[in-house]
Amino acid sequence: MFEFKEYVESANYIKGKMNGKKPKIAIILGSGLGVISEDIENKIVINYKDIPNFPISTVEGHAGELIIGNIGKKEIIAMNGRFHYYEGYDLKETTFPERVFKLLGIETLIITNAAGGINKEYKAGDFMVINDYLSFFAESALRGQNLSEFGERFPDTSETFNKELSDKLKEIIKEKAGVVREGVYAYMKGPTFETPAEIRALRIMGADAVGMSTVPEAVIAHHCGIKNVAVSCITNMAAGVLEEKLSYDDVKNTADKVKIIFKQIVKEFIEAI
Ligand code: HPA
Repeated sequence: MFEFKEYVESANYIKGKMNGKKPKIAIILGSGLGVISEDIENKIVINYKDIPNFPISTVEGHAGELIIGNIGKKEIIAMNGRFHYYEGYDLKETTFPERVFKLLGIETLIITNAAGGINKEYKAGDFMVINDYLSFFAESALRGQNLSEFGERFPDTSETFNKELSDKLKEIIKEKAGVVREGVYAYMKGPTFETPAEIRALRIMGADAVGMSTVPEAVIAHHCGIKNVAVSCITNMAAGVLEEKLSYDDVKNTADKVKIIFKQIVKEFIEAI
């Protein structure tokens, strides 16, 4: 658990490094999807380890830095590397940055991730805009004392992902990638990939894709009034869908193959909103 003043302390540290920039858009770069950071201009890079109270990213393929700068005319903050529950953090730690973003004046959060495809129509390399989530097997990131400075005790979740922004993102994906998916993301805690039986169950429950991130971040951001929009890169078909074992190499290889188009989608989206 963190106290309100700890979020303030981190935000003040970051503000002190921002050279007067006032970004309203933040983006979380998912596994292997950090390439967009190359296109950020006038960069200010802050290492997570230098920010008071910030956790440090431990996963291969995830850097650990905040990048503040411009994409086109827009000022943004990018999280190059995120925090996952499976790394051993509790959910208040994994979602620490989103509350700091709120204090920095962020209004829109773009969340990206790598995910497994559960919907049998999907193919590796597809992009799915997330319109809702399942999170039955994980505790809520809001468990514990409510910090009313950020939001209410029992928040509504019927529009965790902003519809207007999601529609805009779908349009851009369709134009750039030819195919766009939209569906329900099932949050699983990892780090084991799911079992084939879990994937069959998740499919029956209405999930289209599965992953180990995004939901805690989206819950915390929505709670404090940030608008979310989220996209999964389907890096592999989920366990048991195809006759093959899963490996993180497949996740990285697919992310690598789509990174140029992914970058174009994100850039165009940021410029359009
Ligand atoms: N399951 C969970 N997380 C993932 C997967 C998956 O199949 N692919 C990429 N992240």
